[in-house]
Amino acid sequence: MIKRNVIVIWTILGILANVQGHETESLRHWEIASPDPDRIVLTWAGNPARTQAVSWRTDDSVENGYAEIALADPSARFDLNAKRIKANTQPLDIAQHDQNVAVVTHFHSVVFKGLMPDTLYAYRVGNGDQRWSEWLQFRTASTKNDPVEFLYFGDAQNAVLSHWSRIMRAAFQKAPYADFSIHAGDLINRAHRDQEWAEWFKAGGWVHGMIPSIVVPGNHEYDELTDAEQEKRLSLQWGPQFELPRYQDLPDILEETVYYIDYQGVRIVAMNSNREIEAQTKWLEKVLSRNPNSWTVLTFHHPIFSSGDGRDNSRNRDSWKPIIEKHGVDLVLQGHDHTYARGHVPIRMMDTASKSEIGPVYVNSVSGPKMYEFMEGGWDVYRPEGVILDRKAENTQFFQVIRIEGMSLVYKAYMANGELYDAFELRKQKDGSRSMRDWAPDLGEERLFEYTLPYNREGM
Ligand SMILES: [Fe+2]
Repeated sequence: MIKRNVIVIWTILGILANVQGHETESLRHWEIASPDPDRIVLTWAGNPARTQAVSWRTDDSVENGYAEIALADPSARFDLNAKRIKANTQPLDIAQHDQNVAVVTHFHSVVFKGLMPDTLYAYRVGNGDQRWSEWLQFRTASTKNDPVEFLYFGDAQNAVLSHWSRIMRAAFQKAPYADFSIHAGDLINRAHRDQEWAEWFKAGGWVHGMIPSIVVPGNHEYDELTDAEQEKRLSLQWGPQFELPRYQDLPDILEETVYYIDYQGVRIVAMNSNREIEAQTKWLEKVLSRNPNSWTVLTFHHPIFSSGDGRDNSRNRDSWKPIIEKHGVDLVLQGHDHTYARGHVPIRMMDTASKSEIGPVYVNSVSGPKMYEFMEGGWDVYRPEGVILDRKAENTQFFQVIRIEGMSLVYKAYMANGELYDAFELRKQKDGSRSMRDWAPDLGEERLFEYTLPYNREGM
């Protein structure tokens, strides 16, 4: 009798083990959650001089996550002084989306608080016992207007591991001490597909744990959860994996998709161009009218001036462009159109008394491999809006390194081989007026489909 019970128990355990194994059978090893932390990513939910947020993933065996933090002293055992902080842990049933395997993963996040400005810290995340990440390092922002250098990526979106990773890594090679990275939406293609997020994290690897990300959702971060659903919703993974600022005066539906960060005299405003445009318009007006910073950068996904053939976002343009111009935003970083476009609105075209030579600079960029044709006639269609197209490209992946130092902003757009494709400098006077000058004397020929390697969208 006892023997028979043992056999029955073993059989049940065997079936359970099989089911467990079967669920992840179709996955690559780096997609599978385990007790070891992965998908470690730095973001901000507060002041970057005093706080730092980190999020990571494990399997559901890790019920309590912990982070440890210490001053990154050069001594070998800097870690002996580490302070431990318990994480917020939340389960995520990725099977809510029918394209994912039936697995519940745990997402953990910690906001380090009370940090010293301009200080290098080391941290690790784990289960508080044997399962820790390696020690990673980050530097807090200073409380002065020290130079700021940051990266900007247009849509990664497709073939993120195979074809986007080289851009991400070339960017790290070019600016290893970047203070943060802006990802202007469409980080992946199918919002809830866990395998695609796995690719995004593998492509960036430990860089995501060293350089904080400022992320906004694109249209591809919204999708129906199941075939039966009519309404597209924000990626299941977005909330659990990115710890971002929250505000009372924005609709709940925009939570952790609309926010701003002040970093050493630069205000970076992240907007959600998918939803609730009017609510954000009021919020933007408020955020820009009380802005003590010398420089302002906006990022959102759908561009004010489209560069992809047959595309236009008049609603966003009508609502946001007047506010962008009124408050003298310096740079607007966007994605969505799978082309490269950089242009500006000369001040004489704007209804303002400012002495500036130029108004805001608008950029549409693409960092992934899906490519569209540039809008026919360039930006002629936007002539009534007064925008001038300064540089464009097709069939080319880009990353940008932007450096702000005192009254100068230098923008450089690089290609995957590390070569410069576009650059300019904005100079600002004390009264806030700006002038623009070319940075490189010769940027070379425009890259267009007809002069570049053949392109085939299959597989993108
Ligand atoms: Fe898009």
